[in-house]
Amino acid sequence: MKMKKEVKVTPYEVEGTLDEKDYAKLAKEFGLNPLNQPLLDRIKKHTKDLHFMLTRRVFFAHRDLDWLLTEYEKGNKFFLYTGRGVSGKTHIGHLVPWIFAKWLQDKFNCEFWFQFPDDEKFMFKSDLSFEEVQKYTYENMLDVIALGLDPKKTHFLIDTKHASLLYPEAIKVAKKITFSTVKAVFGFTNETNIGSIFYTSMQTVPAFLPSVLAKKNIPCLIPLGIDQDPHFRITRDILPKLGFYKPSIIHAKFLSGLKTYGGKMSTSDPDSTIWTTDTPEEVKRKINKHAFSGGQATIDEHRKKGGNPEVDVAYQWLYYFFEPDDQKLKQIHEDYKSGKMLTGELKAYLIEKINAFLKEHQKKRELAKKQIDKFIYAQK
Ligand code: TYM
Repeated sequence: MKMKKEVKVTPYEVEGTLDEKDYAKLAKEFGLNPLNQPLLDRIKKHTKDLHFMLTRRVFFAHRDLDWLLTEYEKGNKFFLYTGRGVSGKTHIGHLVPWIFAKWLQDKFNCEFWFQFPDDEKFMFKSDLSFEEVQKYTYENMLDVIALGLDPKKTHFLIDTKHASLLYPEAIKVAKKITFSTVKAVFGFTNETNIGSIFYTSMQTVPAFLPSVLAKKNIPCLIPLGIDQDPHFRITRDILPKLGFYKPSIIHAKFLSGLKTYGGKMSTSDPDSTIWTTDTPEEVKRKINKHAFSGGQATIDEHRKKGGNPEVDVAYQWLYYFFEPDDQKLKQIHEDYKSGKMLTGELKAYLIEKINAFLKEHQKKRELAKKQIDKFIYAQK
């Protein structure tokens, strides 16, 4: 019997594949709360409708979201914070927390702080040069702007560019973190370079910087992929000691890579990944050639037995991202399961959806080039 590889999730390593049970187990291990119906109803009171990433539990867990809503209901508005550890091009998995954050910005009309730590992956990846990181920071910024964020309310922080603003706060955080803590949380060893050891203090700063600037405590909500939670366990431990609120967090599951159902899309295997800059031909080739299928080996068999949408990457991508219409999704689920819809048809539908999304995105990415200055935080 083939044994399932053990699941390991840290900000620097995701191993194995995750099903519903694994996510529940991970949430328990991390000490997260499930995103349950009463909490969704409470969000809906303010937002009128719910994003499909909530109702489908793509965002499935949280820390202190109930507290944040209580503060909001008392008139204490929150800000949003998320980020991108620049290491290369943007893939569609990265867009999951950002698209959701944009929805939150629209619904709650919040300020949004977006960090581009151009130090992080430079420290962690031995073959990545600082010049490459600068180039990709620019490229990644275009992807974030293309999502349609409000320039008046969105502020980009780039660690080395905004060093004089971030560093004085980061050292206050760093002073409270021991080497044994980061060893335990991130699996560091004595061979880890000292930049990597320090880095988590930089990622903590935007969770309280707006409070420093406003000279009053402001609640913070961080939408992220669950791999980033370990950083903020440290943040949540330290901020009360510095006199700030613990940030609230809302956690997403991973959009899988094309080749393996339940894994995390990663930058290391281009054939398993759709980049935001891919051409329609590249998308078609990758999906047709590499998308893991829950269909049967032959058409005859498929018509008889039907496919398994639960492990089919094309279906899962529709569920997570590309088919917001619940009715259409349900129909596809039924048709695929009954054998009425073939794997080739499902893939063709997904290819069309991805290419329609990327066509728009790439257009907005071009326009974003003229807007970058409006988004980079102007330091006083
Ligand atoms: P990074 O650049 O690895 O990833 C950026 C964001 O994308 C999420 N993500 C995914 N979500 C769903 N499916 C996927 N396949 C997938 N791959 C990546 C990540 O969880 C993350 O939210 N250290 C951070 C950068 C950072 C940050 C932050 C992230 C700085 N400040 C605050 C979140 C919140 C990083 O390297 O992310």
